[in-house]
Amino acid sequence: MPESGPEPICKPGDSIFFQDGTLFMLDQTALPALTVFIEHTTPEEVIESIKRLAVRGAMAIGVAGAYGVLLGALSARGKGAEAVADAARDAIASIGASRPTARNLFWALERMEQALAEGAAGSADELVGRLHDRADEIALETIETNRLLVEAGQELIGEGMRVLTHCNSGPLAALRYGSALGVLIEAHRLGKGIHVYVDETRPLLQGSRLTAWELSTAGVPYTVIPDNAAGFVMKQGMIDAVMTGADRIAANGDAANKIGTYGVAVLARAHGLPFYIAAPGSTVDLACPSGDEIVIEERSPGEVRYCGGQPTAPRSAPVYNPAFDVTPAGYIEALVTEKGVLRPPYEKTLQVFR
Ligand code: MRU
Repeated sequence: MPESGPEPICKPGDSIFFQDGTLFMLDQTALPALTVFIEHTTPEEVIESIKRLAVRGAMAIGVAGAYGVLLGALSARGKGAEAVADAARDAIASIGASRPTARNLFWALERMEQALAEGAAGSADELVGRLHDRADEIALETIETNRLLVEAGQELIGEGMRVLTHCNSGPLAALRYGSALGVLIEAHRLGKGIHVYVDETRPLLQGSRLTAWELSTAGVPYTVIPDNAAGFVMKQGMIDAVMTGADRIAANGDAANKIGTYGVAVLARAHGLPFYIAAPGSTVDLACPSGDEIVIEERSPGEVRYCGGQPTAPRSAPVYNPAFDVTPAGYIEALVTEKGVLRPPYEKTLQVFR
């Protein structure tokens, strides 16, 4: 990875930053109405924010999880190195049980675990310092891999392209650049004159609340569409390509992302449009052979029965609310990563992450 510069990692101004023993995270549930930062001083508070999607997006929850482990370690600092290690391990276990699908969370927690295991135990302060350094490295690597993939993705985005995206994969879902949305924001910055179509992304509206907010902040021309309009806008010739992020990419290239992504990929194929996924190596799970083995989070029925506090279904309507789906590799034209644009066969090309 590129060397870290002198500027602090996760600095005020980012959606996540760590300062004086407190983890500050922008409350994504309050957007776009309010920009409010929540202060976290315990792993339990971080878990609560991850579960209720105050912090969300695969890469962002990885970074949040890493600093959550650090908060656990800090709480035991006065009790000696062994107590610090125990508290950090407890935090790793409980944060790991918060959301199952995004590989990035487990990538980050495994690295925190490695930091615990490395070197002599030393003093409580040394151990806390090692964990702090590791959390900073995770944040830095997230920023740097995103920066590189945003550059790499430019070869897929031509002048004047109209690109459909689903859910939110911008800086909010990461730390700074983002993945798929980062590619599109950069294409705009480079003057390519693109237009982004934004699926609203029911039931929690990450598209219309968050992606539209990030695009308008960056000055990128965009249009929000209801999820069920995607086929119609493609049929009308209004879309040139689809690009989304991912939460976990299996060794064969099958990719889990926000529920609805699979349907969009099938529609893209039916209309002869390329479907791209942009994600860093921390999303790739080579130990997972295919999408069939990816654990899909199922969320509360309340998210479907209500919208903005208003009932959208009978109060006790039976609901099935999977948070993610899996797009088979066969629908994915290319994967944009920090190691460049990868093409099928993914079981071979993804080996760059071995
Ligand atoms: O449930 P969420 O909002 O955390 O789901 C996020 C997504 O599905 C994103 O598209 C994904 O994390 C890729 S961008 C890091």
